[in-house]
Amino acid sequence: MRLTEDEKAMRDGANGPAVARSMDLLIRYGEALDAERLVETRNVAGAFNASTPSVRHLAEDGFDRVFSELNLDSDDTIEIPRMAVPTCQLITGIDMENSALQGADPALTEMQRQSEKYLGQRGVNMMCTCTPYQVGNVPVQGEHCAWMESSAVIYCNSVLGARTNVEGKESTGAAALTGRIPYWGLHLPENRHANRLIRVEAEVDDMADWGVLGYFTGFAVEENRPAFERLTHQPNLMKLKHFGAAAASSGGVEIYHMPGITPEAPTMEAAFGTSAKPEAICFGAAEKRRTWERLQNATDRKLDFVMLGCPHNSIEQMSLVAELLEGRRIHPDTALWVHTPRALRQIADRSGYTDVIRAAGGEVMSDTCPSISRRLPKGVRVIATDSAKQAHYLPAIAKVQGWFGSVRQCVDSAVAGEWLGVVR
Ligand code: F3S
Repeated sequence: MRLTEDEKAMRDGANGPAVARSMDLLIRYGEALDAERLVETRNVAGAFNASTPSVRHLAEDGFDRVFSELNLDSDDTIEIPRMAVPTCQLITGIDMENSALQGADPALTEMQRQSEKYLGQRGVNMMCTCTPYQVGNVPVQGEHCAWMESSAVIYCNSVLGARTNVEGKESTGAAALTGRIPYWGLHLPENRHANRLIRVEAEVDDMADWGVLGYFTGFAVEENRPAFERLTHQPNLMKLKHFGAAAASSGGVEIYHMPGITPEAPTMEAAFGTSAKPEAICFGAAEKRRTWERLQNATDRKLDFVMLGCPHNSIEQMSLVAELLEGRRIHPDTALWVHTPRALRQIADRSGYTDVIRAAGGEVMSDTCPSISRRLPKGVRVIATDSAKQAHYLPAIAKVQGWFGSVRQCVDSAVAGEWLGVVR
């Protein structure tokens, strides 16, 4: 791999042992990927926080030990300096304001609190959400990033036109300390063009429709790069957030193009670059219905738990949930958790949304989600969610039955204590 003089100096220890270890890791990683060089990044989103039982023994030796092992793949404990470039923490395992409700071990909660403090002192912004782009981390078009979390990566590449592969804990740790990441995959302009075409012939308008289209897309194109034609409705941030999370769950989609909507595809020709448009895959009424049915992994209608906010809700989504719950009462046998970034929870609190949701018997959660934390209310057998991604993962992770529907169907069902959704 070709290194600049600065990179060679970092590798050789000019900036201390943690940076040297990081460069060594990035060089080995880049060579395994056949990357010719590294590229500078000033935007890292990773997972650094210690919140799980499996790292408790490491944390007993201090958080340098945790970072060294988890984020630099080092058996030796290295003193970790301040991050070299802007870096944020993605989602964590414990909601720091609702840990008791989650049933989290108080010792683990304290470990996470100390870990947050340690990371903050080293310049890691504790956003604690899978949607850093909702709370201030918004890279510009063409910017090279090093992000983890599939739903964030597909948003970063497609909606923002910034550039990242799906990174891991180690590569984001090394990127944060060096400001470098291997130049391969979606960092290269020629790898970003579409190579699949989806023709939309069914109505795709509300949030649930966009989740269903995303879920269909992942199965249809797997790890390829789809472009879309005949979209009839303009999506917004929330719809693209749901769409991308679903496409990255059922398949490995990391970038897509919607001509006239996403920044790298002003036209269909631009989406495909020099390649010809391939034959279209149709998403019509039959495909929409089949995909909707595929998202239903339940038979029992008695509902124990409703999960909203995957990916974490925007403030508009929090407003909608509060509006739907205003003056109503959730069934006593059903729990409702609504997830939003901790920064947006403050706005939800100040706007009165949290009070309305709590008065109805629901909870507003931050920092985590049931799929990541593996913490649900006790005794849950049947869940419902408005997220195709959560409907995909939670039944398998938590061994529960799962219904998928619109946010209105989920809220109405939470109030009734039974699933009221219908297939569209
Ligand atoms: Fe975020 Fe958890 Fe969904 S990490 S995208 S809320 S599965």
